[in-house]
Amino acid sequence: MTPAARISAAIDLMDRIQAGEVADRALADWGRKNRYAGSKDRAAIGDIVYDVLRQKQSLASLGGGETGRALLLGYIRASGTDPRSVFGADRYAPPQLTEDELAADPPAQDLLREGSDFPEWLWPDLLRSHGDQALPIARALRHRAPVHLRVNLQRLSRSDAITSLAEEGIDSEPLSLSPSALTVVGGARKIRTATAYLSGAVELQDASSQAVADLVPLKQGESMLDYCAGAGGKVLAVAGRTAGTFFAHDVDPRRMKDLPDRARRAGVRVRQVTLEDIEQGQRRFDTVLIDAPCSGSGSWRRDPQGKWLLTPDKLGHILNLQKEILDRAIKLVKRRGHLVYATCSLLDRENDVQIKEFLTRTPDVSIIVERRFTPVSESDGFYCSVLRRD
Ligand SMILES: C[S@@+](CC[C@H](N)C(=O)[O-])C[C@H]1O[C@@H](n2cnc3c(N)ncnc32)[C@H](O)[C@@H]1O
Repeated sequence: MTPAARISAAIDLMDRIQAGEVADRALADWGRKNRYAGSKDRAAIGDIVYDVLRQKQSLASLGGGETGRALLLGYIRASGTDPRSVFGADRYAPPQLTEDELAADPPAQDLLREGSDFPEWLWPDLLRSHGDQALPIARALRHRAPVHLRVNLQRLSRSDAITSLAEEGIDSEPLSLSPSALTVVGGARKIRTATAYLSGAVELQDASSQAVADLVPLKQGESMLDYCAGAGGKVLAVAGRTAGTFFAHDVDPRRMKDLPDRARRAGVRVRQVTLEDIEQGQRRFDTVLIDAPCSGSGSWRRDPQGKWLLTPDKLGHILNLQKEILDRAIKLVKRRGHLVYATCSLLDRENDVQIKEFLTRTPDVSIIVERRFTPVSESDGFYCSVLRRD
């Protein structure tokens, strides 16, 4: 596909996404229906669509509207390219620009410098949560996230993992945030076919997520329940570090469908349980981890559509859910055991405020560690607190 044809495809896709389709589903569907597009074209179009979503507000200003065409016009202007060299460039290109479109040409760099591309209604929350770091954080969310790997240290040392990946054209460097973390600086598209990945020696996982798993105070032989396990990223990270007995639960068990395979590749055992199993057996755990459902605001670089789909109502619902989960999960912690609460949110209301309120209504629990990560320091935004039950 020509560069202009990729822009045409991105315009169509952005129209669909603006009309309510989920970005990755629209992209997968487009790939299925346009078989002439090779994997490089599909990847490039995906990159454009996600870049546009990350900077939607400022690109809408630059392009003069929120249609796919206007957003892509903004995208091209922001890149410093003359849009006339793209629109109408060849037979697969989007139609030539109209006089009106050409006339509206604001000074690109000024607008982009101003733009935070953060939902206006949520800005006071971010400001309250991060003060003078709010703007750098919002700006960090406008860019692509780095690709991080977790090395399964029971399989391979971090330096051996770097060597193994390099032999297959993937360049990586250690990150200080976690002893298992690598950042990929070249060849990221080859990861899923690399030997180290296929053998379970490395997994794709953001470094903050790894750092959160590092905070889980599980000792050799103890039991841990991942209460909101999803695809199991956290429980696998803890199991890759400490030999314990691991259990996974999720309100939606379908979200754990990849967990058995991932656990097998990593060489660890994780038993899936229901709340009924736990309650009937009256089982208690040394540690219960809550990787809570949240706004996802800390990972909006990876899921930029989420930034525009969150509403005050949805956030209110999430806050209630977090409260309910905390109140339920603490009952599953042994005395003198730990409850670890984590979110990939940047908002105090989901983080320290949520925990402060929980501590007020749960007097036999105290906080022993609290950490925040923001995307300004490379990795995703995360919050984690480690609580101890008396
Ligand atoms: C942030 S994700 C977990 C990600 C996962 N720990 C990982 O590292 O891959 C939150 C999960 O909480 C689950 N969840 C939502 N409400 C829940 C509830 N009431 N009880 C248990 N899990 C819930 C969701 O289905 C979702 O899979």
